[in-house]
Amino acid sequence: MKIVVFGSINMDLTAYVPKLPLPGETLLGDSYITVPGGKGNNQAVAAARLGAAVQFVGRVGDDIFGKQVLKIVAAENVDVSPVAVDTEKGTGLAVISVDKNAENAITVISGANWTLGDSDVARAEQCLDGAAALMLQIEVPLEASLHIAEIAHQRNVKVIFDPAPAVSLPDKAYQVIDFITPNETETEVLVGIKPQNESEAKQAAAILHQRGVKNVIIKMGAKGVYYDTGTDQGFVKPYHVKSIDSVAAGDAFNAGLTVALAEGKDIKEAVRWGAAAGAIATTRKGALPAMPHREELLHLIAQQG
Ligand code: RIB
Repeated sequence: MKIVVFGSINMDLTAYVPKLPLPGETLLGDSYITVPGGKGNNQAVAAARLGAAVQFVGRVGDDIFGKQVLKIVAAENVDVSPVAVDTEKGTGLAVISVDKNAENAITVISGANWTLGDSDVARAEQCLDGAAALMLQIEVPLEASLHIAEIAHQRNVKVIFDPAPAVSLPDKAYQVIDFITPNETETEVLVGIKPQNESEAKQAAAILHQRGVKNVIIKMGAKGVYYDTGTDQGFVKPYHVKSIDSVAAGDAFNAGLTVALAEGKDIKEAVRWGAAAGAIATTRKGALPAMPHREELLHLIAQQG
């Protein structure tokens, strides 16, 4: 089963710190790692590890980070042949701090990611042949993401849209998205409600439905996940794991959800796959290295339901 991912690719420089720094503060950290990341790239690697045939469409710079990242991602069985090399902008870079509670703060220098446009949409369109789903996030220009979403929608390829990082969306976006998956902060930016429980998530989902998106999945981290397809609503409790680093947990969630949907699982099971994938991602350091494998996801679901 084939999934196309259109999105960002970064090198992540992650520092492990006792607490997130305050403005003007200099902190002594414990350690750092340099690993591939980027929301698009993380989703692509996670979907491949979970069993999908993945084609990734994005852009890197003509530099050492771009070469390193592509080599590592290709070794994860992701087809990176639709990734273009931009000769003007450098590879995207994320500077990340992770504290003792696994919380993070991220600054992204978009670089080549922000040059995605018509030629990238055209390559993505070619990849849609035989695809079950298109995964999107918005660390790349929104116009390009919505353009390929519209094409996928017309071709009956499921569009799974992660509105991250948080921005408000134009009305036309809601007409071409099949599944929207905001977290609490993104939900607040979209509809003005920061859900803290099932009933607040339900109110937020109702607004998103009114705007035209059919399937709403609201990720509330350690508080669980609310889903509402219009005909089926429910809540999936979080999986219990020892979390050390929450970077890319949302990306892993979207990959778990999308792979399960593409395999024909029902919405509740697909949300479980998302929640289990996200939980596993928090148990390891970094973005790409933390992405879940299929066997460990099945094991966690078998253990905890
Ligand atoms: O979602 C996590 C990702 O956000 C990191 O890998 C970093 O690159 C930023 O894009």
